[in-house]
Amino acid sequence: MAFAYRDGALCAESVPLDEIAQRFGTPCYVYSRAEIEHNYRAFEQALAGREAMVAYSVKANSNLAVLALLAKLGSGFDIVSSGELDRVHAAGGDARKVLFSGVGKSAAEIRLALEAGVRCLNLESEAEMGRVDAIAGQLGLRAPVAFRVNPDVDPQTHPYISTGLKQSKFGIAYADADRLYREAARRRNLEVIGIGCHIGSQLVDPAPLVAATGRMVDLVERLAKAGIGLAHIDVGGGIGIRYRDEAPPPITDFLAGVLGVLGGRGETLIVDPGRAIVGSAGILLTRVEYVKPGEAKNYLIVDAAMNDLLRPALYDAWHEVLPVRRAESGVGAGVYDIVGPVCESSDFLACERRLAAGSGDLVALMCAGAYAMVMSSNYNSRPRAAEVLVDGRDAHLVRRRETTEQLYALESIPK
Ligand code: LLP
Repeated sequence: MAFAYRDGALCAESVPLDEIAQRFGTPCYVYSRAEIEHNYRAFEQALAGREAMVAYSVKANSNLAVLALLAKLGSGFDIVSSGELDRVHAAGGDARKVLFSGVGKSAAEIRLALEAGVRCLNLESEAEMGRVDAIAGQLGLRAPVAFRVNPDVDPQTHPYISTGLKQSKFGIAYADADRLYREAARRRNLEVIGIGCHIGSQLVDPAPLVAATGRMVDLVERLAKAGIGLAHIDVGGGIGIRYRDEAPPPITDFLAGVLGVLGGRGETLIVDPGRAIVGSAGILLTRVEYVKPGEAKNYLIVDAAMNDLLRPALYDAWHEVLPVRRAESGVGAGVYDIVGPVCESSDFLACERRLAAGSGDLVALMCAGAYAMVMSSNYNSRPRAAEVLVDGRDAHLVRRRETTEQLYALESIPK
Protein backbone atom coordinates (compact mmCIF):
# COMPACT_ATOMS: atom_id res chain seq x y z
CA MET A 1 0.00 0.00 0.00
CA ALA A 2 1.49 3.30 -1.12
CA PHE A 3 -0.48 5.32 1.45
CA ALA A 4 -1.27 3.65 4.76
CA TYR A 5 -1.36 4.37 8.49
CA ARG A 6 1.69 3.50 10.57
CA ASP A 7 1.57 4.18 14.32
CA GLY A 8 -1.48 6.37 13.80
CA ALA A 9 0.10 8.53 11.09
CA LEU A 10 -0.79 8.38 7.43
CA CYS A 11 2.40 7.70 5.45
CA ALA A 12 3.52 7.83 1.86
CA GLU A 13 5.57 4.64 1.60
CA SER A 14 7.78 5.00 4.73
CA VAL A 15 7.46 8.76 5.18
CA PRO A 16 4.79 10.21 7.51
CA LEU A 17 2.81 12.90 5.70
CA ASP A 18 3.10 15.31 8.63
CA GLU A 19 6.88 15.25 8.13
CA ILE A 20 6.35 16.15 4.48
CA ALA A 21 4.04 19.00 5.43
CA GLN A 22 6.61 20.30 7.87
CA ARG A 23 9.45 20.15 5.33
CA PHE A 24 7.68 21.35 2.22
CA GLY A 25 4.54 23.13 3.42
CA THR A 26 0.95 22.74 2.23
CA PRO A 27 -0.90 22.39 -0.05
CA CYS A 28 1.38 19.76 -1.46
CA TYR A 29 1.01 16.86 -3.89
CA VAL A 30 2.75 13.71 -2.74
CA TYR A 31 3.46 10.80 -5.11
CA SER A 32 4.65 7.27 -4.44
CA ARG A 33 7.39 6.04 -6.76
CA ALA A 34 6.69 2.39 -5.90
CA GLU A 35 2.99 2.73 -6.73
CA ILE A 36 3.70 4.22 -10.16
CA GLU A 37 6.09 1.38 -10.93
CA HIS A 38 3.62 -1.19 -9.61
CA ASN A 39 0.85 0.18 -11.83
CA TYR A 40 3.10 0.33 -14.89
CA ARG A 41 4.27 -3.24 -14.32
CA ALA A 42 0.64 -4.39 -14.15
CA PHE A 43 0.25 -3.29 -17.78
CA GLU A 44 3.54 -4.88 -18.74
CA GLN A 45 2.43 -8.17 -17.23
CA ALA A 46 -1.04 -8.01 -18.77
CA LEU A 47 0.55 -7.60 -22.21
CA ALA A 48 3.41 -10.05 -21.72
CA GLY A 49 3.83 -12.50 -24.57
CA ARG A 50 2.37 -10.13 -27.13
CA GLU A 51 3.99 -7.50 -29.33
CA ALA A 52 2.79 -4.45 -27.41
CA MET A 53 3.67 -1.01 -26.14
CA VAL A 54 2.40 0.97 -23.16
CA ALA A 55 2.28 4.65 -24.08
CA TYR A 56 1.69 6.54 -20.83
CA SER A 57 -0.73 9.40 -21.37
CA VAL A 58 1.35 12.41 -20.33
CA LYS A 59 -1.67 14.65 -19.74
CA ALA A 60 -2.58 12.72 -16.57
CA ASN A 61 0.56 13.82 -14.72
CA SER A 62 3.41 15.45 -16.59
CA ASN A 63 5.87 16.15 -13.79
CA LEU A 64 9.38 15.47 -15.14
CA ALA A 65 10.17 13.11 -12.27
CA VAL A 66 7.13 10.99 -13.12
CA LEU A 67 8.00 10.96 -16.83
CA ALA A 68 11.65 10.13 -16.11
CA LEU A 69 10.61 7.22 -13.92
CA LEU A 70 8.31 5.84 -16.62
CA ALA A 71 10.90 6.39 -19.36
CA LYS A 72 13.36 4.37 -17.30
CA LEU A 73 10.80 1.58 -16.95
CA GLY A 74 10.60 1.49 -20.76
CA SER A 75 7.29 3.26 -21.26
CA GLY A 76 6.27 5.04 -24.43
CA PHE A 77 4.26 8.27 -24.27
CA ASP A 78 0.94 9.52 -25.62
CA ILE A 79 1.11 13.30 -26.00
CA VAL A 80 -1.30 16.03 -27.10
CA SER A 81 0.96 19.07 -27.52
CA SER A 82 4.51 20.02 -28.34
CA GLY A 83 4.77 21.16 -24.73
CA GLU A 84 4.27 17.55 -23.69
CA LEU A 85 6.85 16.49 -26.27
CA ASP A 86 9.34 18.94 -24.71
CA ARG A 87 8.63 17.41 -21.33
CA VAL A 88 9.21 13.88 -22.63
CA HIS A 89 12.55 15.02 -24.05
CA ALA A 90 13.50 16.87 -20.86
CA ALA A 91 12.74 13.72 -18.87
CA GLY A 92 14.94 11.54 -21.08
CA GLY A 93 12.09 9.84 -22.97
CA ASP A 94 12.51 8.48 -26.48
CA ALA A 95 10.65 10.28 -29.31
CA ARG A 96 10.48 7.01 -31.23
CA LYS A 97 8.06 5.79 -28.56
CA VAL A 98 5.84 8.87 -28.76
CA LEU A 99 2.32 8.97 -30.22
CA PHE A 100 0.94 12.43 -30.92
CA SER A 101 -2.87 12.68 -30.52
CA GLY A 102 -5.18 15.68 -30.41
CA VAL A 103 -7.72 17.40 -32.64
CA GLY A 104 -5.94 20.72 -32.99
CA LYS A 105 -2.27 20.18 -33.73
CA SER A 106 -0.78 23.41 -35.07
CA ALA A 107 1.55 23.48 -38.06
CA ALA A 108 4.44 24.32 -35.74
CA GLU A 109 3.63 21.34 -33.51
CA ILE A 110 3.41 18.96 -36.47
CA ARG A 111 6.76 20.19 -37.77
CA LEU A 112 8.43 19.79 -34.36
CA ALA A 113 7.02 16.29 -33.93
CA LEU A 114 8.15 15.16 -37.38
CA GLU A 115 11.61 16.65 -36.90
CA ALA A 116 11.87 14.91 -33.53
CA GLY A 117 11.02 11.60 -35.20
CA VAL A 118 7.92 10.62 -33.22
CA ARG A 119 6.58 7.14 -33.80
CA CYS A 120 3.16 8.19 -35.04
CA LEU A 121 0.83 11.13 -35.50
CA ASN A 122 -2.78 10.24 -34.81
CA LEU A 123 -4.81 12.15 -37.40
CA GLU A 124 -8.20 13.35 -36.23
CA SER A 125 -9.62 15.00 -39.38
CA GLU A 126 -9.32 15.15 -43.16
CA ALA A 127 -8.01 18.70 -42.85
CA GLU A 128 -5.26 17.56 -40.52
CA MET A 129 -4.28 14.82 -42.98
CA GLY A 130 -3.77 17.49 -45.62
CA ARG A 131 -1.71 19.65 -43.30
CA VAL A 132 0.55 16.80 -42.18
CA ASP A 133 1.03 15.68 -45.80
CA ALA A 134 2.08 19.20 -46.83
CA ILE A 135 4.48 19.71 -43.91
CA ALA A 136 6.08 16.30 -44.40
CA GLY A 137 6.57 17.24 -48.06
CA GLN A 138 8.33 20.47 -47.10
CA LEU A 139 10.59 18.55 -44.72
CA GLY A 140 11.28 15.92 -47.36
CA LEU A 141 10.11 12.99 -45.28
CA ARG A 142 7.21 10.59 -44.97
CA ALA A 143 5.09 11.19 -41.90
CA PRO A 144 4.12 8.04 -39.97
CA VAL A 145 0.37 8.36 -39.38
CA ALA A 146 -2.66 6.58 -38.00
CA PHE A 147 -6.26 7.76 -37.88
CA ARG A 148 -8.01 8.07 -34.59
CA VAL A 149 -11.32 6.48 -35.46
CA ASN A 150 -14.43 7.18 -33.52
CA PRO A 151 -16.06 3.77 -33.00
CA ASP A 152 -19.34 5.25 -31.68
CA VAL A 153 -19.38 3.12 -28.56
CA ASP A 154 -20.85 4.43 -25.30
CA PRO A 155 -18.20 4.10 -22.57
CA GLN A 156 -20.83 4.67 -19.84
CA THR A 157 -18.77 7.21 -17.99
CA HIS A 158 -19.14 10.91 -17.12
CA PRO A 159 -20.29 12.84 -20.25
CA TYR A 160 -17.33 15.26 -19.96
CA ILE A 161 -14.88 12.38 -20.30
CA SER A 162 -16.73 10.36 -22.97
CA THR A 163 -14.83 10.76 -26.19
CA GLY A 164 -15.90 8.05 -28.60
CA LEU A 165 -19.51 8.91 -29.39
CA LYS A 166 -20.75 10.24 -32.74
CA GLN A 167 -21.28 13.72 -31.33
CA SER A 168 -17.74 13.90 -29.95
CA LYS A 169 -15.18 16.30 -31.45
CA PHE A 170 -12.53 13.57 -31.36
CA GLY A 171 -11.44 11.24 -34.13
CA ILE A 172 -12.84 10.66 -37.62
CA ALA A 173 -16.27 9.13 -38.13
CA TYR A 174 -16.24 5.37 -38.48
CA ALA A 175 -18.21 5.71 -41.72
CA ASP A 176 -15.48 7.93 -43.23
CA ALA A 177 -12.59 5.71 -42.21
CA ASP A 178 -12.33 3.52 -45.36
CA ARG A 179 -12.33 6.55 -47.64
CA LEU A 180 -9.78 8.50 -45.59
CA TYR A 181 -7.42 5.53 -45.25
CA ARG A 182 -7.47 5.04 -49.02
CA GLU A 183 -6.81 8.71 -49.52
CA ALA A 184 -3.93 8.74 -47.01
CA ALA A 185 -2.40 5.65 -48.63
CA ARG A 186 -2.27 7.56 -51.93
CA ARG A 187 -0.43 10.54 -50.43
CA ARG A 188 3.30 10.42 -51.14
CA ASN A 189 4.36 12.08 -47.91
CA LEU A 190 2.30 9.91 -45.59
CA GLU A 191 3.12 6.44 -44.35
CA VAL A 192 -0.03 4.86 -42.96
CA ILE A 193 1.09 2.66 -40.08
CA GLY A 194 -1.76 2.22 -37.64
CA ILE A 195 -5.18 2.89 -36.23
CA GLY A 196 -6.25 4.28 -32.90
CA CYS A 197 -9.27 5.02 -30.76
CA HIS A 198 -10.00 6.28 -27.27
CA ILE A 199 -13.58 6.00 -26.14
CA GLY A 200 -13.46 7.69 -22.76
CA SER A 201 -11.91 7.80 -19.36
CA GLN A 202 -12.58 6.17 -15.98
CA LEU A 203 -14.19 3.09 -17.54
CA VAL A 204 -15.04 0.55 -14.89
CA ASP A 205 -16.43 -2.06 -17.24
CA PRO A 206 -14.19 -3.39 -20.03
CA ALA A 207 -17.13 -4.29 -22.32
CA PRO A 208 -17.21 -0.97 -24.27
CA LEU A 209 -13.45 -1.18 -24.87
CA VAL A 210 -13.83 -4.74 -26.15
CA ALA A 211 -16.64 -3.61 -28.44
CA ALA A 212 -14.52 -0.73 -29.76
CA THR A 213 -11.61 -3.10 -30.42
CA GLY A 214 -13.95 -5.35 -32.38
CA ARG A 215 -15.07 -2.42 -34.53
CA MET A 216 -11.44 -1.51 -35.20
CA VAL A 217 -10.47 -5.06 -36.13
CA ASP A 218 -13.35 -5.19 -38.66
CA LEU A 219 -12.00 -2.03 -40.21
CA VAL A 220 -8.40 -3.29 -40.19
CA GLU A 221 -9.54 -6.41 -42.05
CA ARG A 222 -11.39 -4.37 -44.67
CA LEU A 223 -8.33 -2.17 -45.14
CA ALA A 224 -6.06 -5.21 -45.52
CA LYS A 225 -8.33 -6.43 -48.35
CA ALA A 226 -7.85 -3.04 -49.99
CA GLY A 227 -4.08 -3.50 -49.75
CA ILE A 228 -3.57 -1.24 -46.73
CA GLY A 229 -1.73 -3.19 -44.04
CA LEU A 230 -1.32 -1.65 -40.58
CA ALA A 231 1.47 -2.20 -38.07
CA HIS A 232 -0.35 -1.25 -34.89
CA ILE A 233 -3.75 -1.05 -33.22
CA ASP A 234 -4.00 1.53 -30.43
CA VAL A 235 -7.00 0.93 -28.19
CA GLY A 236 -6.48 4.09 -26.14
CA GLY A 237 -6.52 4.47 -22.39
CA GLY A 238 -9.49 4.95 -20.14
CA ILE A 239 -9.08 2.18 -17.61
CA GLY A 240 -10.77 3.29 -14.42
CA ILE A 241 -9.60 3.20 -10.83
CA ARG A 242 -11.31 2.95 -7.46
CA TYR A 243 -12.01 6.40 -6.04
CA ARG A 244 -14.92 5.34 -3.85
CA ASP A 245 -16.77 2.10 -4.50
CA GLU A 246 -16.04 1.56 -8.18
CA ALA A 247 -14.67 -1.91 -8.76
CA PRO A 248 -12.80 -2.06 -12.06
CA PRO A 249 -11.23 -5.47 -12.60
CA PRO A 250 -7.43 -5.80 -12.30
CA ILE A 251 -5.50 -4.69 -15.42
CA THR A 252 -4.91 -8.24 -16.67
CA ASP A 253 -8.64 -9.00 -16.53
CA PHE A 254 -9.54 -5.60 -17.93
CA LEU A 255 -7.38 -6.20 -21.00
CA ALA A 256 -8.21 -9.90 -21.40
CA GLY A 257 -11.22 -9.17 -23.62
CA VAL A 258 -9.22 -6.86 -25.88
CA LEU A 259 -6.47 -9.47 -26.17
CA GLY A 260 -9.13 -12.05 -26.94
CA VAL A 261 -10.53 -9.99 -29.82
CA LEU A 262 -7.02 -9.47 -31.22
CA GLY A 263 -6.20 -13.17 -30.87
CA GLY A 264 -3.15 -14.12 -32.88
CA ARG A 265 -3.20 -11.02 -35.10
CA GLY A 266 0.20 -9.66 -36.01
CA GLU A 267 -0.31 -5.96 -35.31
CA THR A 268 1.44 -4.41 -32.30
CA LEU A 269 -1.08 -3.59 -29.58
CA ILE A 270 -0.71 -0.13 -28.07
CA VAL A 271 -2.49 1.04 -24.92
CA ASP A 272 -2.25 4.59 -23.60
CA PRO A 273 -3.29 4.63 -19.97
CA GLY A 274 -2.91 7.71 -17.80
CA ARG A 275 -5.12 7.50 -14.73
CA ALA A 276 -4.55 3.78 -14.12
CA ILE A 277 -0.80 4.43 -13.81
CA VAL A 278 -0.67 7.58 -11.70
CA GLY A 279 -4.14 8.07 -10.16
CA SER A 280 -3.68 5.90 -7.07
CA ALA A 281 -0.06 7.04 -6.72
CA GLY A 282 -0.78 10.57 -5.54
CA ILE A 283 -2.51 12.51 -2.78
CA LEU A 284 -3.13 16.17 -2.12
CA LEU A 285 -1.97 17.12 1.36
CA THR A 286 -3.71 20.14 2.87
CA ARG A 287 -4.02 21.81 6.27
CA VAL A 288 -7.22 22.90 7.98
CA GLU A 289 -7.25 26.66 8.45
CA TYR A 290 -10.63 27.04 10.14
CA VAL A 291 -13.53 24.98 11.37
CA LYS A 292 -16.66 26.89 10.52
CA PRO A 293 -19.94 25.53 11.83
CA GLY A 294 -22.91 26.86 9.85
CA GLU A 295 -26.67 26.90 9.98
CA ALA A 296 -27.15 24.41 7.17
CA LYS A 297 -23.65 22.93 6.86
CA ASN A 298 -20.37 22.70 8.68
CA TYR A 299 -17.20 23.61 6.84
CA LEU A 300 -13.58 22.67 7.12
CA ILE A 301 -11.77 25.47 5.35
CA VAL A 302 -8.45 24.11 4.14
CA ASP A 303 -5.47 25.70 2.39
CA ALA A 304 -5.99 23.79 -0.88
CA ALA A 305 -8.77 24.85 -3.25
CA MET A 306 -10.43 24.22 -6.60
CA ASN A 307 -7.45 25.84 -8.31
CA ASP A 308 -5.30 22.99 -6.91
CA LEU A 309 -7.78 20.15 -7.48
CA LEU A 310 -10.49 20.98 -10.00
CA ARG A 311 -12.06 17.54 -10.41
CA PRO A 312 -14.74 17.89 -7.68
CA ALA A 313 -15.91 21.28 -9.03
CA LEU A 314 -15.73 20.22 -12.67
CA TYR A 315 -17.07 16.66 -12.62
CA ASP A 316 -18.50 16.34 -9.15
CA ALA A 317 -15.65 13.88 -8.67
CA TRP A 318 -15.31 12.09 -5.35
CA HIS A 319 -11.95 11.88 -3.58
CA GLU A 320 -11.67 10.19 -0.22
CA VAL A 321 -10.56 12.47 2.63
CA LEU A 322 -8.36 10.97 5.34
CA PRO A 323 -6.98 12.65 8.45
CA VAL A 324 -3.18 12.44 8.58
CA ARG A 325 -3.31 11.76 12.34
CA ARG A 326 -6.16 9.60 13.51
CA ALA A 327 -7.84 11.59 16.25
CA GLU A 328 -7.97 9.27 19.25
CA SER A 329 -10.33 11.41 21.27
CA GLY A 330 -12.74 12.01 18.39
CA VAL A 331 -12.61 15.71 19.23
CA GLY A 332 -14.05 17.80 16.45
CA ALA A 333 -15.89 14.86 14.90
CA GLY A 334 -18.67 16.00 12.62
CA VAL A 335 -19.95 16.11 9.08
CA TYR A 336 -18.19 18.71 6.97
CA ASP A 337 -17.84 20.12 3.51
CA ILE A 338 -14.12 20.50 2.82
CA VAL A 339 -13.70 23.78 0.99
CA GLY A 340 -10.89 26.12 -0.01
CA PRO A 341 -10.28 29.87 0.17
CA VAL A 342 -11.26 30.59 -3.48
CA CYS A 343 -14.17 32.95 -4.05
CA GLU A 344 -16.53 30.57 -5.85
CA SER A 345 -19.38 28.50 -4.50
CA SER A 346 -18.06 25.57 -6.52
CA ASP A 347 -14.80 25.70 -4.57
CA PHE A 348 -15.24 22.43 -2.76
CA LEU A 349 -12.94 19.44 -2.54
CA ALA A 350 -15.38 17.10 -0.82
CA CYS A 351 -18.93 17.33 0.52
CA GLU A 352 -20.63 15.90 3.59
CA ARG A 353 -17.79 13.84 4.99
CA ARG A 354 -17.68 12.54 8.54
CA LEU A 355 -14.33 13.49 9.98
CA ALA A 356 -12.63 14.49 13.21
CA ALA A 357 -10.40 17.45 12.49
CA GLY A 358 -9.57 20.82 13.95
CA SER A 359 -7.69 23.94 12.95
CA GLY A 360 -4.07 23.11 12.12
CA ASP A 361 -4.75 19.43 11.37
CA LEU A 362 -3.65 17.86 8.12
CA VAL A 363 -5.94 15.94 5.79
CA ALA A 364 -5.18 14.06 2.59
CA LEU A 365 -7.33 13.92 -0.55
CA MET A 366 -6.70 10.46 -1.90
CA CYS A 367 -6.23 9.23 -5.47
CA ALA A 368 -5.03 12.62 -6.67
CA GLY A 369 -2.15 11.51 -8.86
CA ALA A 370 -4.01 11.91 -12.16
CA TYR A 371 -5.64 15.01 -13.67
CA ALA A 372 -4.94 16.91 -10.49
CA MET A 373 -1.78 19.05 -10.46
CA VAL A 374 -1.88 19.18 -14.29
CA MET A 375 -5.30 20.86 -14.18
CA SER A 376 -4.36 23.36 -11.49
CA SER A 377 -4.43 27.10 -12.11
CA ASN A 378 -3.39 30.33 -10.45
CA TYR A 379 -6.93 31.62 -9.98
CA ASN A 380 -7.11 34.14 -7.14
CA SER A 381 -3.33 34.58 -7.59
CA ARG A 382 -2.69 31.40 -5.71
CA PRO A 383 0.77 29.96 -6.32
CA ARG A 384 0.56 26.34 -7.35
CA ALA A 385 1.28 23.58 -4.85
CA ALA A 386 4.63 21.90 -4.35
CA GLU A 387 5.08 18.32 -5.59
CA VAL A 388 7.01 15.66 -3.69
CA LEU A 389 8.00 12.19 -4.88
CA VAL A 390 8.50 9.64 -2.12
CA ASP A 391 10.78 6.67 -2.65
CA GLY A 392 10.94 4.42 0.40
CA ARG A 393 12.27 6.61 3.21
CA ASP A 394 13.24 9.50 0.93
CA ALA A 395 11.07 12.44 -0.02
CA HIS A 396 12.26 14.43 -3.03
CA LEU A 397 10.89 17.86 -3.87
CA VAL A 398 10.11 17.47 -7.59
CA ARG A 399 8.42 20.84 -8.08
CA ARG A 400 8.98 23.83 -5.86
CA ARG A 401 6.00 25.80 -4.65
CA GLU A 402 5.46 28.79 -6.91
CA THR A 403 6.00 32.28 -5.60
CA THR A 404 3.66 35.18 -6.32
CA GLU A 405 6.52 36.98 -8.11
CA GLN A 406 6.63 34.08 -10.57
CA LEU A 407 2.92 34.51 -11.20
CA TYR A 408 3.31 38.03 -12.55
CA ALA A 409 6.86 37.71 -13.91
CA LEU A 410 5.58 37.76 -17.53
CA GLU A 411 3.34 40.81 -17.03
CA SER A 412 4.20 44.46 -17.58
CA ILE A 413 2.62 47.85 -17.05
CA PRO A 414 2.56 50.10 -20.17
CA LYS A 415 4.56 53.31 -19.63
N1 LLP B 1 -5.51 8.46 -24.89
C1 LLP B 1 -6.21 9.52 -25.32
C2 LLP B 1 -6.28 9.78 -26.77
C3 LLP B 1 -6.87 10.37 -24.41
O1 LLP B 1 -7.58 11.40 -24.84
C4 LLP B 1 -6.78 10.10 -23.00
C5 LLP B 1 -7.45 10.95 -22.01
C6 LLP B 1 -6.00 9.00 -22.60
C7 LLP B 1 -5.40 8.20 -23.57
C8 LLP B 1 -5.81 8.64 -21.17
O2 LLP B 1 -7.00 8.29 -20.53
P1 LLP B 1 -6.98 7.64 -19.08
O3 LLP B 1 -6.28 6.32 -19.18
O4 LLP B 1 -6.23 8.56 -18.17
O5 LLP B 1 -8.40 7.53 -18.73
N2 LLP B 1 -9.60 15.26 -16.80
C9 LLP B 1 -10.44 14.09 -16.77
C10 LLP B 1 -9.94 13.00 -17.69
C11 LLP B 1 -9.73 13.44 -19.12
C12 LLP B 1 -9.18 12.35 -20.02
C13 LLP B 1 -8.79 12.88 -21.35
N3 LLP B 1 -8.22 11.92 -22.28
C14 LLP B 1 -10.59 13.64 -15.34
O6 LLP B 1 -10.06 14.30 -14.44
O7 LLP B 1 -11.25 12.65 -15.04
